[in-house]
Amino acid sequence: MTMQLERPAGRDDLVGLVNGRVPGYSLAAPFYTSQEVFDLDVRGIFAEHWIFAAAEAELPEPGDFVTVGVGRYSVVVVRDDDEEVRAFHNVCRHRGSRLLDEPRGSVGNLVCPYHHWTYGVDGRLMHADNQPATFDRSCFSLKPVHVRSVGGLVFLCLADKPPADFDEVAARIEPFLAPYGLRQAKVAHQVDIVETGNWKLVMENNRECYHCDGHPELLSAYFPLFGYSAEDVPPRLKPVYQRYGTAAAALQSACVRQGFPIEGARELDTRATGFQLSHAPLDGAGKSFNTNGESVCSRLMGSLTTDRFGDLSLHMQPNSWFHMLADHAVLFSVLPLAPDRTLLRTTWLVHPDAMEGVDYDLATLTAVWQATNQQDGTLVARTQKGVEDPGYQPGPYSTVEGDVEAFVTWYVSRLAAHLSR
Ligand code: FES
Repeated sequence: MTMQLERPAGRDDLVGLVNGRVPGYSLAAPFYTSQEVFDLDVRGIFAEHWIFAAAEAELPEPGDFVTVGVGRYSVVVVRDDDEEVRAFHNVCRHRGSRLLDEPRGSVGNLVCPYHHWTYGVDGRLMHADNQPATFDRSCFSLKPVHVRSVGGLVFLCLADKPPADFDEVAARIEPFLAPYGLRQAKVAHQVDIVETGNWKLVMENNRECYHCDGHPELLSAYFPLFGYSAEDVPPRLKPVYQRYGTAAAALQSACVRQGFPIEGARELDTRATGFQLSHAPLDGAGKSFNTNGESVCSRLMGSLTTDRFGDLSLHMQPNSWFHMLADHAVLFSVLPLAPDRTLLRTTWLVHPDAMEGVDYDLATLTAVWQATNQQDGTLVARTQKGVEDPGYQPGPYSTVEGDVEAFVTWYVSRLAAHLSR
């Protein structure tokens, strides 16, 4: 049924592998194990689409930067002196030295450690010693990378011509994010985890809750109705469904009252910039990710005036998802390191005036997703071991894995488009 290429070596092998994907089934082993497919993923997915890179909150002041690694690419995302966010290849225009090694920091200028060519945070070459009179500094600015902030979430695209639908997607997302004031928010915590699995296993795991009985902390925040609609909810869950209906109506009223958008969107596999927006109530006290549903920060985000504002979730292809709650936001980015290693970066944002130890306790703020990430990492590592086993054969998705199917369908179709160029 599936292609059994152990080591696709050339373009034809890769085309065959991509075209041989069976809808409704997990991917063939080489998609998770082969260096050639990993390199193709970097070229055809990460270098050709808009990827989530950082929160603006990570760059509050001019000169603040983060470096983002994608395969062999390294990109500097920096706030310039006009307070705009810019992105550049992290490569000196003299003889190519890496400019910055640190994952984050703050600089006045970008100074190459090799021969000290000095660039402004707007990328312009300001100084280079011992040049002939004919040397034109303006020809040697850092090479820019496309960058856009969407409501405080910074996306970059390495392609010369990024997917053209991003402006439309951004315009649809921004009104949902605006109430949370992410641009002005404060980073309360950030954690990097290197998962021992292919980046697609990390994404696939995120795109379903079939496994969520392994997430008791996270589940306590949600109504236990995964996989059920109003029509097929079993009798034992009818009271839960009624409770959910009441909470959903209250959330809708709160949105209307404050003039915030309500209707979500699900366009995960029908466009280059696949995305999904959903705003759902939370169970228990209904306020936040907490085992009892209570708030984890006493300062509400942005312009919100109610602490019961559910979970606004945003899922983006290929590498990110986000949860915005009344009292904090959690951002996730997935960056491929190797066929069997992936960086998962988790960032918690709070109101800019929220003070640790006064308005929030860091352990409580981060508890649910620290636990969930650890549990997910174990599942991803187990799956990586399995797909590397010669006994692995792609298996069928269940009825509650529609978003996994959407992710894989998007991924395969984008690779096919890349290979056809
Ligand atoms: Fe950067 Fe020479 S390589 S100054």
